[in-house]
Amino acid sequence: MNVTLRGRTEHFRTVSFDAKNNSVRLIEQRLLPHEFKIIGTKDFCETAKAIADMVVRGAGAIGATAAYGLAQGALAFRGRDLKKFSRHVATVYQTLADARPTAVDPVNAMNDVRQKMTPGKTMAERQFLALAAAEEFANEDVRHCEAIGQYGAKLIRNGMKILTHCNAGWLAFVDVGTATAPMYAAQTQGKKFHVFCDETRPRSQGASLTAWELAQQKVSHQIIADNAAGHLMQRGEIDLVIVGSDRVLGRTGEVANKIGTYTKAVLAARHKIPFYVAIPCSTIDWNLRRGFDIPIEERHESEVLGAWGVTKTGHREYLRVANPNSGARNPGFDVTPAELITGIITPAGIFKPGELWQQRRELGYPI
Ligand code: MRU
Repeated sequence: MNVTLRGRTEHFRTVSFDAKNNSVRLIEQRLLPHEFKIIGTKDFCETAKAIADMVVRGAGAIGATAAYGLAQGALAFRGRDLKKFSRHVATVYQTLADARPTAVDPVNAMNDVRQKMTPGKTMAERQFLALAAAEEFANEDVRHCEAIGQYGAKLIRNGMKILTHCNAGWLAFVDVGTATAPMYAAQTQGKKFHVFCDETRPRSQGASLTAWELAQQKVSHQIIADNAAGHLMQRGEIDLVIVGSDRVLGRTGEVANKIGTYTKAVLAARHKIPFYVAIPCSTIDWNLRRGFDIPIEERHESEVLGAWGVTKTGHREYLRVANPNSGARNPGFDVTPAELITGIITPAGIFKPGELWQQRRELGYPI
C-alpha cells in the first residue's frame, strides 16, 4: 500500500526480506499511527520475539513473518550435516510457531516452506528453496487479498455504512488486507461509502491501525467505541459488517477473530445486518473439528488495565487507567459460530461457512 509521509508517497509491504543481511524487515506497528518505522530482525529468535511482542501482528502478516523467519533460520545454519540441519529447522519452526497461538497462518505458511524445501539434495539447495517458498507465500498473500477485494467489492453499494473490527487491513497482511480489500476495490470503482472502525480494546488496533490506513487511503471513516455498534445498528446506521479472521475451521465454518467479534456478530444477526468474514486460504484450518478447540491467546493484564499513547512531547507512554489494586482477564480472541455469518469472502469467491469443506479443492486443501 502507499504511505504518504511528509508529502512523499511510497509503496510499502508490511513484511519483506533483506537477503543481503538475512533479516526480516517489518513495519514497527506498535509505534503507529504516531511514527512510521521499519525494523530488521537479526535472527530467527528476534523474528519470533517480534511476533510475540506484536511489532508485527495480524494473521497474514505473522504468517509471512514466520515463513521468512524459517528461511532466515535455515540460511543461518553453518555446516554440511543434513540431519543436524533438519533438527535445527525443527527448532526454528517450533520457536516461531509458539510465538502466538491463535492464528493458523504461521503454521500453514511454515508447513508450506518446509514441504517445498525438502526435495533439496544439499543444504544450500534447501536453503535456497526455503527462501523461494517464503517469497512465494508472501506474494500469494498479496494475490489472495486482491482477489478478495474483487469479490467483496460487489457487496458494497453507494452510500453504505460499513463496520469493521480490529485491523484486517494491509498492516495485518503483506499488502492490501482482507476486510479492507473490498473497501479499497470499491473506492477504485468510484463508490462512496463510510466506514466505522471499532476502537478494539484493549490494544486499540481499530483506532490506531485501521483508522490510520483508511486515512492514508482517503476513505471516509470514524472510530467508534467498542460498545457503540449496537446503538448504531439499532438506528439503522450500519448496513454491512466485514471483519477478518485468525483461523476459520474448514470443516465447520466457525471463525476465530479479535475479541469482540462474536458480540458484533450477535448484534448484526439481531438487526438482520449482513456479517461477512474475509480470509486468504492460509487462514483456513482443515484439521480442527470444533471451534472450542481453537487455542485462544491470553495476553498480559496490563493491556486491559491501562493504555499506550503519545504525550504532547512525542513520548510513547503507558498510563494506568484501572483501579490500582484490581487485576484483569485478557483473552485476545473469540469464536463466532457459523450460523451468525452471512458469508466468507475468499480468493475463490464468497461462500456460506458451511460450504467451505465442499469447496476445499478451490481453497487450497492440502493434498
Ligand atoms: O492480535 P492481532 O492484532 O494480531 O489480531 C489480529 C487481528 O487484527 C484481527 O483479529 C483480524 O481481524 C484478523 S488478522 C487479519
